[in-house]
Parts: sequence; structure tokens; C-alpha cells
Amino acid sequence: AGERADANGVGLPGDPDCGDTMQLFIRVEDDIIKDVSFKIRGCVAALASASVTTVLIKGKTIAEALKITNLDIAAALGGLPEQKMHCSVLGEQAIRKAVADYRHNCRA
Ligand code: FES
Repeated sequence: AGERADANGVGLPGDPDCGDTMQLFIRVEDDIIKDVSFKIRGCVAALASASVTTVLIKGKTIAEALKITNLDIAAALGGLPEQKMHCSVLGEQAIRKAVADYRHNCRA
């Protein structure tokens, strides 16, 4: 948990219904997500989703990380109650936004 000063990609999705946000920091080197951290402003399920998202993507290539869905995140947690499944969506969105930010930074 926490911000990474050396991150070269940051994603910050939010759920418009509940107002919660998940910030994901990735450090990519040679197409590999070498390190990752998160900051969360949200419910316990969002916190757990953020934490397990870091575990799921660390050491993966960008292509592998982009294949991870909210269902993978929920499964890695051992499941979530149906009314909390939307919290895992923040993890999937955070990966996609962090990678998009990384790619944008590479082109800049
Ligand atoms: Fe908003 Fe869980 S209730 S992310």
C-alpha cells in the first residue's frame, strides 16, 4: 500500500455510484510490471481488491496484466458477495488506466 514515487504509470478509476476510488501505481521495466502499489478511498471490498490486484500483476508482462478481469480479482479473494462484485471492477479498471498512462508517458 502507498504511493510509489518511481511509478511510470498511474491509474485512478472511480465508481460513479458509490464515489470510491482506487489509485494504482505501476513501475514497468522491459515490458514487465516490476513493482506496484495502491492507494484506496473506498470500502473494505475495494481495499481487498486493490491489494490482490497488486499480487496478481506484479511480475507480469503488460499483455498478461491486461487479461486480468474483475472476475479474476474476485476469485483471487475467494469470492465476493454479489452486491460487492462492482468493487472488484475498480481493480480491472485501475490496471487498464495505469497501463494507458504508462503507454502515454512512453510516447511523451
Ligand atoms: Fe464502492 Fe465498494 S462500495 S467500491
